[in-house]
Amino acid sequence: MLSSKLDEVIDRGQFTNGPTVKELERELELFTGAKYAIGVGNATEALIIMLRAAGIGPGDEVIVPCFTFFASASSVAHVGAVPVFCDIDPVTYSLKVDEIESKITERTKAIMPVHLFSQMADMVSICKIAKKYNLLVLEDSAEAISMFNNGVHAGLVGQAGVLSFFPTKTLGAMGDAGMIITNDDNIAEHARLLRIHGQEENDLGIHKVVGYNSRMDDIQASVLLGRLKYLQEDIAKRAYLTSLYNKLLADLSQVQIPIIKERRDVANPVYYVYLIEVEQRDDLVTYLSSVGIGTETYYPTPLHIQPCFSYLGYEYGSMPNAELACTRTLGLPLYPDLTEKEVHKVSEEIHRFYGNGVNK
Ligand SMILES: Cc1ncc(COP(=O)(O)O)c(C=O)c1O
Repeated sequence: MLSSKLDEVIDRGQFTNGPTVKELERELELFTGAKYAIGVGNATEALIIMLRAAGIGPGDEVIVPCFTFFASASSVAHVGAVPVFCDIDPVTYSLKVDEIESKITERTKAIMPVHLFSQMADMVSICKIAKKYNLLVLEDSAEAISMFNNGVHAGLVGQAGVLSFFPTKTLGAMGDAGMIITNDDNIAEHARLLRIHGQEENDLGIHKVVGYNSRMDDIQASVLLGRLKYLQEDIAKRAYLTSLYNKLLADLSQVQIPIIKERRDVANPVYYVYLIEVEQRDDLVTYLSSVGIGTETYYPTPLHIQPCFSYLGYEYGSMPNAELACTRTLGLPLYPDLTEKEVHKVSEEIHRFYGNGVNK
């Protein structure tokens, strides 16, 4: 499947924004239920284009969690708006809902929930607040393919969302690729214009707005079409490996295994990242690395104290949940081809590090 699609792209010789990209867009409209899926270069550009297409610009404020991938906030700054940082819920790692209202001013235009690791933000509460203050909800659903809220795919609960197909994502390409998904006619039309230098596809040479070069690559689209067929199988493997980790690590008091909120509105966690919270995180990272086990620290420094956002005037201490998470969270290896033996090995080394012996 993968090679036949790839051969098709190579034989056709149309390598960007071509028929294979369009086929992927149709498939993802079907998969997510979106009226429009718009392929772009990566999810960072998808966020920028989504914000601009939704009318966010200079002087506007967008409420963003301070514990997330950099692009959630940099995209806001890129369109000339101000990211207003909010602390996180310590379980979902997304927006702390009861802090959002205190961040709203007359300049606030949108809330950007980010769905991280395994589960969605509390979209029911966030949408209620957005409705009360007439704000847009623009979702950073880059990590959230196949996450649903009351049957609605992540990115479509609000006005628009994005998907990342970065190679490590649940649906990963062999390079960069991203997508905007929306049910909103105006956002879709504007996003299509923005992705290719502000031109209509059938009226090239006329630039209606100043856009970007954010074409999706057809070779990546062919990879994604092939992998989409295995997405649910891959998620099931991730779920199994997650439950195995949970079982093996449960006896360690120094390790907090992931808490998936049992909420009626969350149908299916996708187990994108196996994120634990641990004591002595940095020492554990060094130890695991010394025995050949790679880990990922999501995220070592919260966004409100990043040097590039110092102009916003936030201080360390103002976002306690995020600041604590930055010192404790650790992503263990998790991907569909990871073996049970490898999970056992990771668990054994973590036990060894904490001096608790080796579990069987
Ligand atoms: C939450 C979040 N937002 C945005 C992005 C940016 O995606 P991309 O790498 O496709 O630009 C990522 C991916 O790393 C992400 O995890």
